[in-house]
Amino acid sequence: MFTSQLIEKFRQLPTPFYYYDLDLLRQTLARITEHGLAKGYQVHFAIKANFNIEILNIIREAGLGVDCVSGREIERSIKAGFRPEQIAFAGVGKTDEEIRIGLDTEIYSFNCESIQELEVLNRLAHENNKMASVSIRLNPNVEANTHRYITTGLHENKFGINPGKLPLLFDLIPRLENIRLNGIHFHIGSQITELRPFIDLCNRVNSLQNLFEEKGFLLEHVNLGGGFGINYEDPDSEPVPDFKSFFEVFDRNLEIRDGQQVHFELGRSIVGQCGSLISKVLFIKDGINTDFAIIDAGMTELIRPALYQASHRVDVLTSSKPPKTYDVVGPICESSDTFQRGIRLPELERGDLVAIRSAGAYGEVMSSGFNLRDRVKAVYSHDLD
Ligand code: LLP
Repeated sequence: MFTSQLIEKFRQLPTPFYYYDLDLLRQTLARITEHGLAKGYQVHFAIKANFNIEILNIIREAGLGVDCVSGREIERSIKAGFRPEQIAFAGVGKTDEEIRIGLDTEIYSFNCESIQELEVLNRLAHENNKMASVSIRLNPNVEANTHRYITTGLHENKFGINPGKLPLLFDLIPRLENIRLNGIHFHIGSQITELRPFIDLCNRVNSLQNLFEEKGFLLEHVNLGGGFGINYEDPDSEPVPDFKSFFEVFDRNLEIRDGQQVHFELGRSIVGQCGSLISKVLFIKDGINTDFAIIDAGMTELIRPALYQASHRVDVLTSSKPPKTYDVVGPICESSDTFQRGIRLPELERGDLVAIRSAGAYGEVMSSGFNLRDRVKAVYSHDLD
């Protein structure tokens, strides 16, 4: 992925920075087109994974829509040229101001997560003389086998409406005059690397959809959410996730009605592998058990290891010396500010460059200003051509 010419260019740039390989992003989108869009599936990019305009432009040009979870994400999507009818708006805690942004923008769908939210949305739509299209997010109680901080489809999670509330919902919806029900929505979690949870999800959706139909609610779309995982251990062996197998699960298991649209909201699997965090070694320090490579990127630039014990591969770009064992750590005064512990890497020295891989999703967007650190910059492959 990193040619010697590219590494030479990296040496000229101030570190740390995110580097995005836009060719890889385009290849990824081509596979989604081939295995998903070409079959009629609609894919909304979960903008929370990466909201950079350059990235959004490429995603929009590939024909995807966008899935937002805040008013500002809706505004950013419009700025990036997405049309209102390509925008869905999810989230358990939408403020009145955010709901009004959605209404004014006339987005395709509010993905509603509670009975109270439906009532508030109806009232605000009425006050603004609008009709809101709504998809009901249901909690399917499906085990996603992922980190407990990023599982979302179990009863104990805060997301979605418990199907036990369906009788109440069926009674309420016809009485909400400024709401039009157009679909049902699910999202069971993130970084799901097996297909089984998606098969289970299809089975749950099939039976829940029947319940809606029995009550006379015909659904324009079903939205299966996102969550498809990527290979963090060995990104070069699988730079593009296996979208063929992913979409085949739904071809085989989902019961779709005539003319019904099927939507997905993929984030990580689209942008994860195209981004790397490039950082410089500041100091090498001998420890008792291991040496420390102290680099100039920290949890302020990439919080995933500190927050989810996530493991991102660290590649050394500028040394090919015999390996030594290191803890690769950031400069922040927190012990959790550690990228890798006890890994074998070519011997490092001050000034060497490393790439922290698979950081395109939930990397730059989750960076923070802790310690008054400078906002991390982005560099795109076309900038360095
Ligand atoms: N749809 C909804 C309703 C979601 O909540 C999410 C992610 C997605 C779609 C996109 O999921 P994806 O395809 O990216 O897995 N910050 C965490 C991940 C949190 C995901 C939250 N929801 C991480 O860095 O692992």
